[in-house]
Amino acid sequence: MPTDRPLRAVAGERAVDVGAAVDADRLRTDVSYRALVRDEFTVVTAENALKMGPLRPAPSTYDFADADAIVNFARAHEMPVRGHTLVWHNQTPTWFQSWDYTDDQLRRFLREHVQTVVGRYRRSVGTWDVVNEAVDDDGSMRETVWYDAMGEEYLDRAFEWAAEVNPDADRYYNDYGADAVNEKSDAVYDLLGRLLDRGVPVDGVGLQLHALGDWPDPDSIAENVRRFQDLGLDVQITEMDVAFPAGEVPHDAAERQADYYREVVETCLDTGVETLVTWGVRDGDTWLRAFRDFPERFSGDPLLFDDRGQRKPAYDAVRDVLST
Ligand code: G3I
Repeated sequence: MPTDRPLRAVAGERAVDVGAAVDADRLRTDVSYRALVRDEFTVVTAENALKMGPLRPAPSTYDFADADAIVNFARAHEMPVRGHTLVWHNQTPTWFQSWDYTDDQLRRFLREHVQTVVGRYRRSVGTWDVVNEAVDDDGSMRETVWYDAMGEEYLDRAFEWAAEVNPDADRYYNDYGADAVNEKSDAVYDLLGRLLDRGVPVDGVGLQLHALGDWPDPDSIAENVRRFQDLGLDVQITEMDVAFPAGEVPHDAAERQADYYREVVETCLDTGVETLVTWGVRDGDTWLRAFRDFPERFSGDPLLFDDRGQRKPAYDAVRDVLST
């Protein structure tokens, strides 16, 4: 039975979290954005504010202003926060990129970073994407500064350092392109198996689900989710958005997009995935309109709300699945 109640209410009754990646400046300055996040979602992720680059303007300086703004907003509205992300090869500080470090300096820097950030948000961030995107598109370990200095051990240490400071948080490995069963998710599965065999304190895997052009098959997503669960891991959908290839947008794009969101939410309910986060709030906020050549490659309307903050068919689909 269709309902008019906000998504937040419907998700709450279902004991499911539906969230959005949010931006600190928009929360500060855009009243309607703020109201949408508050009224419609049950959980938030900082789209950029908790990454190393934004947090570390200089080697010995932290700037927590944006992260604090998001965390304080979430606390005021009783929303859990997904902390994204402690260790990533992207969005490192500019100064860091030209720093001539030794392997040992890098290890100490990473430890200090992980422990400072997790420690500051011990009471306000209950879930961390501890490591993001450590596996390359072909399934090999990605050659990052962290991997070059420490090998695969950098994941072990990052999870352990985070656990030392806040043993109560949930610690996730997060990646893109590993949503369905494929070469990359096989590699992520193997990696997580190795981490667990070594006793590394990893609790879950975040499947980003950027459905850009190629939309992963929901049945295959379900199979993938189940194999991670069989390892003893929780699974969350952490960065969902749904776009068409630019120039191939069908006349019934909004309905097709809604159908896909519906199928994914049904898959979540079937498999026991209890958190689904969309990567932005309104279409006008999407990273797809600002990132590299992506505006030329994909339709820029991947989210649940249109540019004016109006509910789209995708919104109705998600809410309807959760309310039945
Ligand atoms: O912070 C500067 C700002 O000072 C400057 O005025 C502005 C001018 O362009 O740039 C700002 O930084 C940009 C930042 O987004 C904030 O808008 C960066 O250039 C830009 O690269 C950055 O893009 C982010 C991207 O990660 C970086 O790789 C996107 O917003 C963000 O949505 C995206 O998120 C990632 C997830 O973290 C991991 N999974 C994939 C996902 C999409 O790429």
